[in-house]
Amino acid sequence: MLMAQTELPVYLDDSKPVEERIEDALSRMTLEEKVKMVHAQSQFSSAGVPRLGIPENWMTDGPHGIRAEVQWDDWGQAGWTNDSCLAFPALTCLAATWNPQLAALYGKSIGEEARYRNKNVLLGPGVNIYRTPLNGRNFEYMGEDPFLASRMVVPYVQGVQQNGVAACVKHFALNNQEVDRHTVNVNVSDRALYEIYLPPFKAAVTEGKAWAIMGAYNRYKGQWCCQNEYLLNNILRGEWHFDGVVVSDWGGVNNTEQSIYQGVDMEFGTWTDGMTEGRGNVFDQYYLATPFLELLRAQKVKEEEVDKKVRNILRLTFRTTMDRNRPFGSFVTPEHSLAAQQIAEEGIVLLQNKNNLLPVDLNTAKKIAVIGENAVKMMTIGGGSSSLKAQYEISPLDGIKNRIGTQAEVVYARGYVGEATAIQDGVKSRDIIDNRSPEELLAEAVEAAKSADYVVFIGGLNKHDGQDSEGNDRSGLGLPYEQDGLIRTLAKVNKNLVVVILSGNAVAMPWANEVPAIVESWYLGSEAGNALASVLLGDSNPSGKLPFTFPVQLTDVGAHAAGDYPGVNQEEYYNEGIFVGYRWNDKNKIKALFPFGHGLSYTQFTYGKASISNKTMQENETVTVTVPVKNTGKRAGKEIVQLYIGDEKCTVERPVKELKSFEKILLNPDEEKTVEFSLSVDDLKFYDEGKKDWVAEPGKFKVYIGASSADIRSTVDFELK
Ligand code: GLC
Repeated sequence: MLMAQTELPVYLDDSKPVEERIEDALSRMTLEEKVKMVHAQSQFSSAGVPRLGIPENWMTDGPHGIRAEVQWDDWGQAGWTNDSCLAFPALTCLAATWNPQLAALYGKSIGEEARYRNKNVLLGPGVNIYRTPLNGRNFEYMGEDPFLASRMVVPYVQGVQQNGVAACVKHFALNNQEVDRHTVNVNVSDRALYEIYLPPFKAAVTEGKAWAIMGAYNRYKGQWCCQNEYLLNNILRGEWHFDGVVVSDWGGVNNTEQSIYQGVDMEFGTWTDGMTEGRGNVFDQYYLATPFLELLRAQKVKEEEVDKKVRNILRLTFRTTMDRNRPFGSFVTPEHSLAAQQIAEEGIVLLQNKNNLLPVDLNTAKKIAVIGENAVKMMTIGGGSSSLKAQYEISPLDGIKNRIGTQAEVVYARGYVGEATAIQDGVKSRDIIDNRSPEELLAEAVEAAKSADYVVFIGGLNKHDGQDSEGNDRSGLGLPYEQDGLIRTLAKVNKNLVVVILSGNAVAMPWANEVPAIVESWYLGSEAGNALASVLLGDSNPSGKLPFTFPVQLTDVGAHAAGDYPGVNQEEYYNEGIFVGYRWNDKNKIKALFPFGHGLSYTQFTYGKASISNKTMQENETVTVTVPVKNTGKRAGKEIVQLYIGDEKCTVERPVKELKSFEKILLNPDEEKTVEFSLSVDDLKFYDEGKKDWVAEPGKFKVYIGASSADIRSTVDFELK
């Protein structure tokens, strides 16, 4: 007897269109099952539908690696032994590579780690614009320029999602500081919102096709960003046609009414009154839990309101956990280590290299002194939610020692003791407790430096509160722990001094003219020491360029000179408007310590004259700008050729120039390549607040071809008809 072919329910049938599967699943769900889906059931997960075999959603931090498991209902470490991950470099380092292919590699690799750990939402990348060098979380983001951040975030999102894991781009929007982050109401012009702060999110959504986005904690137009009519309904859904899920930041939802109607789909991390006596579990008390269910049952809210949210969540499910064809991921593989090292090496920025002191020459050097706490301090832990329990982390000192081996003597001196906690964010750190007196530590460092052929001081910031860490901002631009004094002392003791700064932010360098070589080396993750040693010893030729400006002083920064950072009584006015970063420097003719887009190489590049295919451009025409670039040095190297556009005359004030394209090219010694850029009218537009649209005004424009925003090698004039 033929068994009746049991019809596979549509929602379980991969061959059916996702939208049909969504409607079928929805039609089978009870009201209670729908409400359970729109809020957390644990610290990092939300319910599926056990009865229908629809899986739970598991989120994980963060942008640099897969966070260690925490307790079911609090932040405490779960203490598992299978969740030590590969720590990738911080996103400022990725941005500093200016290499979208590495962004794709980064996304693919971290997505594989998330997939292997059975997470279907990665809570990253962060793309908040670097408005102030004090922001504690800049190390998690991609710099000050919306175009660079946009070009780098798209491949990262696509790389993550090819693993069947959703990238959850954060924090949408205007979360540009940590001070008062849960309450500050940001007042910003539409022009600055659209030209500076939204573009990376728009690119991630409309080009990267991000499947998730995370609302920010702060307010905009008086509404919390996790329940914001303007950002979530009008812009994200209305203008960008986002079809993914909106996840709240942890504790970002603040009431039931607005969260029902103003855009959030999944509520996480809400601070309720905890597990009080006699109450149900804490997650039932979420704003979109029992309170929401009661309104629905009483028909004070239409069921359509919960259906809207559940549709977006089911779409996430069918794109991830219920896609039978998605790959299986991998965890802490040699390939991921290699990817981390490649990204780290290409992101390191050689800021200064007088007398070509670097790379270290082992043919002559017999003794190298490595000095500073950051040479041994673990940097993969700390910093807040992006903190990791890494399976390994090669410290700068170990990397240098491994690389040099017996070719020279490497001596180490601490120099000072800044932070020596053995435990951070619940993760055991390297024990670097040192109770010696500052005098003793200084004497030891001077002694080590005196007789060395090279002194490598490894300083900068760390991931402790008040430095590069979530929840707070720095109180100033200067280096902590009196490193400036130590650097000056070392410069007097030994002229062959290299200062390596580990940081996610710009720092003041009052000693910059007293030090021959300066390297910005970011937080590089598990492969930190290997990547840094490879650059310092010249195995790899540095090719990173700054994704943000290093100002001489805070008053050189728009947010501090014109803006009212950090705001007064929870109100903040971005008075500097669109003039963020180098846009501010250009407008006010302020020389940066090191400008946006700056980075040296161990070889040299010359630029020829730029030319344009048509000096009078029609509105619907694409023109081509070409510029020959030559490697005139003795070794191969990569150069990031930048194209900026300036609108010579406009009815509104515009920046002197804005980054509109870049190309990273590899050139062998004596090799010359002609770099080509294509320009369309879109590259000439500004956001017109009256028309609420982008417009380009006919008239004269200038193309600037630069090795940095302040090192313009060639310009070309043209006209838009
Ligand atoms: C944190 C952060 C967010 C993180 C989330 C979960 O407060 O703002 O970036 O993903 O909560 O840890």
